[in-house]
Amino acid sequence: MNTRRIVSAALLTCALTPALVWAWPWSQDMMNQPSVKPQEGVPKPFPRHSVPVQGIPTEYNSREETKSLANPIPVSDESLYKGHALFRIYCAACHGLTGQADSPVTEKIGAIPLIDDYVQKQLTEGWVFGTITFGSAIMPAYGVPQKREGQTGSNDLSVEERWHVVNYVKHGLVKDAAAAQQAQVK
Ligand code: HEC
Repeated sequence: MNTRRIVSAALLTCALTPALVWAWPWSQDMMNQPSVKPQEGVPKPFPRHSVPVQGIPTEYNSREETKSLANPIPVSDESLYKGHALFRIYCAACHGLTGQADSPVTEKIGAIPLIDDYVQKQLTEGWVFGTITFGSAIMPAYGVPQKREGQTGSNDLSVEERWHVVNYVKHGLVKDAAAAQQAQVK
């Protein structure tokens, strides 16, 4: 067997057995590391009633408990902007785009106007936060995955997002509703 034959036989072997080639010690994929990969192992569930935000206690169970909470997010253009966007996604379907209880389902579901004195003056910011978190009689919960026995809820809105919505409901909605009414009159 001359050298040429040996080389071509070796090349042929490599070409025909790619699996073998990959299995060589220096062919290790960099993906195989000791680090923990996404979806590896059993994910730990979040503790009950935990809320993922800095500095806010996690042990509230009802609106009664959140009623006198102070809003930790200052009213700012940025907060109102975020609150407005979230309001249109999560609240407008039932309460109307500007909280005037004028959406097609408002009446069917019994949603109330949010620009009236009842919500604007009587309800505290903490109560509105609690309403978004735990839901109300008919209104769904947006801060707890399971509201009450037999009733569903979600944790779609983070604690911070809920406060942005509270800011918008209390400090942006009435103005936007007035502007919308004005636009209709013209
Ligand atoms: C599926 C329809 C629906 C959606 C979506 C909805 N609500 Fe409601 N909401 C209601 C209904 C119905 C009521 C009145 C009956 C009740 O209290 O459940 C209500 C009542 C309220 C009240 C008054 C609570 C009280 O103590 O009287 C507030 C404040 C409120 N909603 C805010 C919001 C905000 C903010 C959002 C968005 C995060 C929202 N709602 C989304 C249906 C809805």
